[in-house]
Amino acid sequence: MSTGAPAAQTPKTFQPRIFSGIQPSGGLTLGNYLGALKRFVEKQDEGIETIYCLVDLHAITVWQDPEKLRQQTREAAAGFIAAGIDPARSILFNQSQVPGHAELAWIFNCVARIGWMYRMTQFKDKTAGKNAENSSLGLLAYPSLMAADILLYQATHVPVGEDQKQHLELTRDIAMKFNHDYKVDFFPITEPVIEGAATRVMSLRDGTKKMSKSDPSDQSRINLTDDADMIAAKIRKAKTDPAPLPETLDGLKDRPEAKNLVNIYAALSGQSAAQVVTEYAGAPFGTFKPRLAELAVAKLSPITNEMNRLMKDPAEIDRILGQGAGRADAIAAPILEQVFDIVGMVRSRRPPG
Ligand code: AMP
Ligand code: TRP
Repeated sequence: MSTGAPAAQTPKTFQPRIFSGIQPSGGLTLGNYLGALKRFVEKQDEGIETIYCLVDLHAITVWQDPEKLRQQTREAAAGFIAAGIDPARSILFNQSQVPGHAELAWIFNCVARIGWMYRMTQFKDKTAGKNAENSSLGLLAYPSLMAADILLYQATHVPVGEDQKQHLELTRDIAMKFNHDYKVDFFPITEPVIEGAATRVMSLRDGTKKMSKSDPSDQSRINLTDDADMIAAKIRKAKTDPAPLPETLDGLKDRPEAKNLVNIYAALSGQSAAQVVTEYAGAPFGTFKPRLAELAVAKLSPITNEMNRLMKDPAEIDRILGQGAGRADAIAAPILEQVFDIVGMVRSRRPPG
């Protein structure tokens, strides 16, 4: 994206640090799992410092029932842990427990330009067919808070699905403009990490639409809370075309539903889409779908079971999130102090003692 923001100064090197977030605005989907969560676990296991956040402040940019939001935040935390996030190795917390996110977002609201916000496709999509003037101010400023999430930790890499690419470009623009306006080399120019076979998992009902936790049709998605029968039924009923699987990847062009199922299979099995096509060349969907269902159940059921077990002890989940927030705050607070100093705020208040 070109926002007219100036180029960065001589880059200083920042210690590699990964940050990413997921909104607790609904249950986790297979899209979240393959596009984000599974890759969060891989990054953690590579031994890089990893910080993962349930972005509850982002969630309320559209209306959330308070009790459901609390429940979904705990459920998402359970999903992260069940999928392999180890709260001892990664920092796992919910955004509202670290005040620096909202504080830095305010400063970024004063750095970013309104026009940058109106250009965001997510804002356009979420207000499409509605009166944009009647959406929350928070929905418009959403990307500024997202930039704050990342830059509050001076994170260098952000694993996300394809749909977040534009927001990450904006994060870079905000970092560059801040560095330029204040003549500092303070924020890193963060790299998006969009990789793997399933950076954009599509709806099971419409291969041109993203699988989303907010789609009104539950048949369009696989939820991490779905049991084995439900997963199998949804895959069996997934929309496809009548042709068998092609001999080569090229044959998936203009077949969005077929391509989506192949990509899901590839991501779940750890193969490339090309390998899957070679294995199933010429097979009808009547053969492929049951195999995909079997694979999905084998990979997802252990996560679902562990999630259900963890959800029986919400106090323990809250304890983990609280501890994660404390660790996050310990990284964030000194960075935020430097930001306040750079922008010219008097900071004479000291904690008691
Ligand atoms: P959200 O559910 O919008 O908070 O998204 C959280 C993370 O999951 C982001 O990194 C998204 O890019 C990723 N994600 C969400 N839906 C999908 C999808 N259908 N395919 C791939 N990644 C997704
Ligand atoms: N906007 C992201 C989404 O909807 C969620 C998010 C908020 C995020 N803050 C973030 C992702 C910081 C990565 C880094 O998917």
